[in-house]
Amino acid sequence: MFKFAITLMLGTVVLTEARTPSRIPGLLDKALEQRIIMSIPEFQGEWSYVTMDSDAVKPSSARFRSHYEVVGESGGIALVRVPKGSEDALSAMMHKDFRRCAGFVSHESEEDAFSSMEAMHRYTRQSRQLIPPFEIDNSEQTADLISKVNETRVRETILSLSTMKNRYYRSTEGVLAAQWIHDHWKNLIKDLPGASVRYFEHKGWPQKSVIVRIEGTKSPDEVVILGGHLDSTSGMGGNHITAPGADDNASGIACLTEVIRVASETGFRPARTVEFMAYAAEEVGLKGSGEIAQTYKRDGVKVVGVMQLDMTNFNSSKKDIYIFEDYTNPAQNQFLKDLVDTYLTDLTWGVTKCGYACSDHASWTRQGFAASYPAESSMDDDNPYIHSIRDTIAQSGGHAQHAAKFARLGLAYMAEASQ
Ligand code: BES
Ligand code: ZN
Repeated sequence: MFKFAITLMLGTVVLTEARTPSRIPGLLDKALEQRIIMSIPEFQGEWSYVTMDSDAVKPSSARFRSHYEVVGESGGIALVRVPKGSEDALSAMMHKDFRRCAGFVSHESEEDAFSSMEAMHRYTRQSRQLIPPFEIDNSEQTADLISKVNETRVRETILSLSTMKNRYYRSTEGVLAAQWIHDHWKNLIKDLPGASVRYFEHKGWPQKSVIVRIEGTKSPDEVVILGGHLDSTSGMGGNHITAPGADDNASGIACLTEVIRVASETGFRPARTVEFMAYAAEEVGLKGSGEIAQTYKRDGVKVVGVMQLDMTNFNSSKKDIYIFEDYTNPAQNQFLKDLVDTYLTDLTWGVTKCGYACSDHASWTRQGFAASYPAESSMDDDNPYIHSIRDTIAQSGGHAQHAAKFARLGLAYMAEASQ
């Protein structure tokens, strides 16, 4: 009913811009389909190996007809070989069918693909078994921190970020957006002992990730991470797109910013090290967080827990906070529920599933770390405006009341998981 009402108001715009598959096959649709088919290269005797979610196999194989083979499949991921050079065509298919911006990963060879798939499954399985060493025993400080959340501040950050033209990972504005976050966070932590800010640079694109670190006083080598993606997208992406990304994900960055502000203003000193991460290039296949998680794993960093904040301000479900159950750590998810029940007694929580590796938490899960992802709504009534020019704060009533709940949860997580 809700989606129907939007269709009447906005015509086909929302349907074609929304994440869900378009339901009205129109002329534009046919032209796009034609272009996709035309862009599939002839088979010249060489293959490309790609992994993708299994649900994408059927629609993509239908377009290739021959020269499309499923080489292996496990745990909802399929390894497929297609004529060399088919990546652009595949990418367009994923985008058209699922609104997945990348939706697949290319590999150098069949062996590479198999070993990376196996490693991923192994670590994903391992990460589900982990029991993070967290207890709820820091109530005085936690309650005090939570009480300092200021909705106006959260709203201001959402507005600053979503009024930039876009935060696309390859665009001029997207680079400036990361710089803005870096400078803003640097200013917030300037008087907090043990706190520093740095860029994490990526090889394949110009947008950087931003990391604030508060050095632990007792166990500095154990790291608790709160993160969210700073990039935005709309349509097919590009340098000049309009992509406000107010909910997806200025809202998550605004929560992190508020947690940093409150931590700084109260002189917060954690026992474990706490890091706040604004990831580049999430919308194009979790690339930024993927590189960071891989680097941390390679360097043997002891990441004890990760909390993802992605989409916090669109209030469309009955409960306040929905915990994603897939690609996450059950024990830490329980810890988040306990935090809500202990400190956020005015709020209710529910559970939901994304169905695929939908945000940066999955990058950590895939490297064998314990990650959780609490979000604004159930997947059944997710925000239909994301990835469009309509993802503005106006869709959330022009305020940040829903996001403020996640800033409070972020503070509770920081205060308890880091002690
Ligand atoms: N914030 C979204 C994920 C999301 C969408 C969570 C709806 C909850 C409800 C994220 O930025 C995103 O767009 N992810 C991509 C997949 C990613 C691998 C490129 C997506 O969902 O298409
Ligand atoms: Zn998105």
